[in-house]
Amino acid sequence: MADDLQDRLDEQLRYYRARAPEYDEWALRQGRFARGTRERARWFAEIAKLEQALDRFRPSGNILELACGTGQWTERLLPYADRLTAVDAAEEVLVLNRRRVGDRVMHVHADVFTWTPTATYDVVFFSFWLSHVPPEQFDRFWTLVRRGLAPGGRVFFIDNLASPEAAELDPEHPGPDEGSVTRHLSDGRAFRIFKVLHRPKRLEAELARLGWDATARRVGHYFLYCRATPGAES
Ligand SMILES: C[S@@+](CC[C@H](N)C(=O)[O-])C[C@H]1O[C@@H](n2cnc3c(N)ncnc32)[C@H](O)[C@@H]1O
Repeated sequence: MADDLQDRLDEQLRYYRARAPEYDEWALRQGRFARGTRERARWFAEIAKLEQALDRFRPSGNILELACGTGQWTERLLPYADRLTAVDAAEEVLVLNRRRVGDRVMHVHADVFTWTPTATYDVVFFSFWLSHVPPEQFDRFWTLVRRGLAPGGRVFFIDNLASPEAAELDPEHPGPDEGSVTRHLSDGRAFRIFKVLHRPKRLEAELARLGWDATARRVGHYFLYCRATPGAES
């Protein structure tokens, strides 16, 4: 990997390590992320739709979660899993994830850009992660996902949506084609991170190019979800 790309990925990871104690405020719409009652209600209604989509997908068996964070979705995956392995490169978020889900989950401290799965899984899941994968690493990331899948395995992920409504709500939202953004912590520290906002149709086409059968759907103003399986050729 080129040095400057590695430097940027290192900065992105430093951001998430430093942000760990305040990360959940974003998902819970608290503190700096609190908005009016209407937006809050919309946000949680859309999160409920993501949960319903996950339920319809019916994850099962041996599940791998990449870039698991503090466990917002790890705990939602747990009831579906026979076994759940959760990977993240930030020890600080893994501590919080462990606190949330305990030893029912096997936690792995690893960098997704260099890690190779040592097992295969029935389901690979990631939430709010693909948008942090730089375009230069997109294909390679999907090779890793493919390697992690058992025969018949499936992928489900959710992410932020490229939408004007989402941009309006968040002053640190990247422009639709920008690919990176400067994010601030509550103490004012600033970090440049990758944020590639995907659109469902384009995402389906990108994944088809790599040999995946993917179905991506917009969820309201803020989110998308996608299910994918390796195509017959791959
Ligand atoms: C936007 S958060 C998403 C967390 C979680 N999936 C969620 O939905 O709450 C991105 C996560 O990616 C992790 N991360 C950043 N760089 C990583 C890398 N190179 N390998 C693995 N995880 C990484 C961060 O520590 C952070 O937990």
